[in-house]
Amino acid sequence: YSEEELYRPNFHFTPKKAWMNDPNGMFFYNGYYHLYFQYHPESNVWGPMHWGHAISTDMITWTELPIAIYPDELGTIFSGSAVVDISNSSGFGEVSNAIPIVAMYTSSKQLEGTDNWKQTQSIAYSNDEGRTFTKYENNPAIDNNEIKDFRDPKVTWDEEREKWVMVLAAGDRIMFYDSKDLKKWNLLSDFGQGIGGHGGVWECPDLFKLPVLGTEESKWVLFVSINPGGPNGGSATQYFIGDFDGTTFTMDKDFETALNKEHNYWIDFGRDNYAGVSWSNATRRDGSKLMLGWMSNWDYAQVVPTETWRSAMTIARKVQLQKNNNGYRLLINPVEELTNYRSTKYKKENIVIKEDTKIIDSGAIDLASAEIQFNIPNLKETIYTFKLSNKLGDELLFGYDNIKKKFFINRKNSGKTSFSEKFANKISTASRTSTNKNLSGTIILDKTSIELFFDNGETVMTEIFFPNSPLDKLSIEPKDQEFILGKIEINKLNFN
Ligand code: FRU
Repeated sequence: YSEEELYRPNFHFTPKKAWMNDPNGMFFYNGYYHLYFQYHPESNVWGPMHWGHAISTDMITWTELPIAIYPDELGTIFSGSAVVDISNSSGFGEVSNAIPIVAMYTSSKQLEGTDNWKQTQSIAYSNDEGRTFTKYENNPAIDNNEIKDFRDPKVTWDEEREKWVMVLAAGDRIMFYDSKDLKKWNLLSDFGQGIGGHGGVWECPDLFKLPVLGTEESKWVLFVSINPGGPNGGSATQYFIGDFDGTTFTMDKDFETALNKEHNYWIDFGRDNYAGVSWSNATRRDGSKLMLGWMSNWDYAQVVPTETWRSAMTIARKVQLQKNNNGYRLLINPVEELTNYRSTKYKKENIVIKEDTKIIDSGAIDLASAEIQFNIPNLKETIYTFKLSNKLGDELLFGYDNIKKKFFINRKNSGKTSFSEKFANKISTASRTSTNKNLSGTIILDKTSIELFFDNGETVMTEIFFPNSPLDKLSIEPKDQEFILGKIEINKLNFN
């Protein structure tokens, strides 16, 4: 492996070259999932933003296409969204029967001689299914001279009210707008001052409705990314559950009480999932939503040890809502499409873990491209540690501490870490919310990332790492007492 290839993921999306951050403008149309992204084609650090573009038929393997939106006199192209304007409500559809794709993004322009930006909201539309875009002649659609941080419009179709609704981040709150034609926007309300996490600026919101599993009820979900102020430092995405009446978002009362007691409503507790939002026009038949996030963290994203390209996206995920004794909680899991890539399988049941137990030795199954399902029945008061390692002594530790009731990822000795003192300064943890006496989980492994989905997606942790050679061994370690690993199933994922 050259250093570059050692670190380029096997199956998570990365741009061929240069800097990438947030996913943008995701929509599904005519067989393709589109993914645009914050892109600085000239360098491997953040700079004047464009919208890069990639497409996929299954959200797993991606084809990168030419840059879709370039900076203009209103500024560079910050994050935003895109919708499929099926009824041509915007009038942007040029050809008869053509369905325009309408993108809304933040134009961000640095004010001369200052560190401040003028951030306004602009529109661009496409009549070729998202390949190329034309800027709307009356941009900016929403002007702004007062608010410093005013960005990341996410547009959604409100079926009940038959109108477009847009959420926008404004520093310490989310502003709600509506529109009939995607061009003229009315401010409705705002939400968030003093509510939830405020350790940093609010960014990249999303608003959508989800059915509550097993009921006739639906609730509205509001995503709010925040940087810094994440549960384990730096950037992360929190969520709120409530109702939206067409004007105002109101948190569910019980959710509010629970949130005020302990804020553990984050779509991911790992350090590397940021700015994630849902795909437009891609609601699954069961009402679930699809999303992915940027698999990095502003704390160190610009200095990770890759040169020609920087940053990957997380695996695409399905978002559902459950309600149990603990109230509402999102369930987030990898999309089922990933299972189409399963090849060689290793499966074992009822393994007694008395001492450090090797599950996969180097070479047996490629752990740089794998999906693992496991189950531990009858949890004891002990610590369950999984260890990924290589012959150079790099190791990534993760698992569940049932004394503290916390999941953890420890990347302190996972390889290269010194590029940023914030990268491996502490062990990331997440409180377990489930009270199930059995623990089950899904683990997605790529060369430089781990994604953990515990308790059917109640708690998710995503982190990146940079080992000096691939982590090719997996072992499980007990602490003080033996336990039984009920099941472990490792599927090699094959993308050729
Ligand atoms: C989030 C963010 C957005 C902004 C974009 C700029 O990571 O800061 O708020 O639109 O990145 O690249």
